[in-house]
Amino acid sequence: MLIAGNWKMNGLSPALGEVEALIRELKARPVAAKVLICPPATLMSRVAAVAGGVISIGGQDCHPQPSGAFTGDISAEMVRDAGGTWVIVGHSERRQYHGETDTLVAAKATAGWRAGLGVIVCIGETEAERLAGQEEAVVDRQLAASIPDAAATSPTAVAYEPVWAIGTGRTPTIEEIARMHAHLRQQLTKRFGNGARAIPILYGGSVNPKNAKEILAVPEVGGALVGGASLKATDFLSIVGAAPVGS
Ligand code: PGA
Repeated sequence: MLIAGNWKMNGLSPALGEVEALIRELKARPVAAKVLICPPATLMSRVAAVAGGVISIGGQDCHPQPSGAFTGDISAEMVRDAGGTWVIVGHSERRQYHGETDTLVAAKATAGWRAGLGVIVCIGETEAERLAGQEEAVVDRQLAASIPDAAATSPTAVAYEPVWAIGTGRTPTIEEIARMHAHLRQQLTKRFGNGARAIPILYGGSVNPKNAKEILAVPEVGGALVGGASLKATDFLSIVGAAPVGS
């Protein structure tokens, strides 16, 4: 099971203290889950130094090109160079605020693999789409167009994050999560065959210390992508500790 913390645009130098606390605790009490933190790019190498291999570090985004005249962007190779082993692509905030298309997200996933990173591809419907009963059609389209064929043989995770659950404190019901994850597993298997087995499906959107245990116990939930609750070591540790033993 993979529990990933997405710090988004949060974290100045003092936030390293939270990572130190997290590492201290994980060393004292090892957990079943693999733990990943995706800090802002400015902190990546310092978080990696503190992490000392106890947890993995990842980027929150990458540019499709390895280098070049793209002011403000960060390549997958740079994520790797800063100590990252994973990169998130296609987060709904990138899709929404930066107009990222499925095609661009797929190019970023390919870039991540090129740099030797594991890639977390985010998908998920908006509230209007769910209310219209379109949630499966939306994620099917995103799965087909945001995830390149190479996912069958490259380190990949899918994060199902209903947009309306992100940062809102609202989550789908356990039944809704179960239904969607079963659907996604079916779609991945249809497309990638045996290769799909190595692709965990994370749930994301308002995961917190209170609901983590129930969500992580749902069949086909292979981990979580955690935003707000990953910023405080104590909260994140409770979530990490909620991963079923042997997962
Ligand atoms: P949240 O964010 O946990 O704060 O809802 C999740 C995410 O955007 O990955």
